Amino acid sequence: MQIHVRDAGREDIDGIVEIYNDAVSNTTAIWNEIEVDAANRLAWLEDRQCVGYPVLVAVDEEGAVFGYASFGDWRAWDGYRHTVEHSVYTHKDHHGLGVGTRLLSALIERARHLGKHVMVAGIEAENIASIKLHQKFGFEHAGRLKEVGTKFGKWLDLAFLQLVLDSRKDPDGCKAP
Ligand SMILES: CC(C)(COP(=O)(O)OP(=O)(O)OC[C@H]1O[C@@H](n2cnc3c(N)ncnc32)[C@H](O)[C@@H]1OP(=O)(O)O)[C@@H](O)C(=O)NCCC(=O)NCCS
Repeated sequence: MQIHVRDAGREDIDGIVEIYNDAVSNTTAIWNEIEVDAANRLAWLEDRQCVGYPVLVAVDEEGAVFGYASFGDWRAWDGYRHTVEHSVYTHKDHHGLGVGTRLLSALIERARHLGKHVMVAGIEAENIASIKLHQKFGFEHAGRLKEVGTKFGKWLDLAFLQLVLDSRKDPDGCKAP
């Protein structure tokens, strides 16, 4: 089976919805409790693409969506413009096959290409698979917020991990030091 990573299109929406809704209903990866429909994810896809941010999918030869990943601005204020927050999801039937690795690798490249300086991951603190995936790429723990979330009747801690993408000294310049 060949998996490749590419930009998402309308044809991937049903696959993205399936993965998203499974995460909503069965995991603490997303702290939402309401499933969404295709129109919701299409609007999200178009919003991301409209501002030039990637939504990537990992697909097989037949176009089945094995996972997806994306990033958006971390915080809305101007000073945060070089920092993005991302998410990566693999279909529940295809965990542990390297799909998350492929997606995160491609996403980091896109962030670099766009001149971003830092990527932030906000991960439920007990989500060992996601933390290990990020550590594989050099993400470092940057703090843990205790009991800031809730799902399934319990408190959730949020772990922040960050990756600094380049070593430029001038935030708005493009030259390396
Ligand atoms: C986290 C997630 C994206 C990982 O995707 P994946 O396709 O299963 O990951 P990969 O097969 O590429 O594995 C990458 C690394 O993650 C770690 N990992 C994956 N599954 C793991 C598990 N069950 N336990 C511990 N580490 C695990 C390993 O370090 C692995 O690297 P290795 O194979 O070199 O040892 C996937 O489990 C997922 O979609 N989970 C639900 C959604 C989620 O939590 N998303 C992240 C929100 S921030």
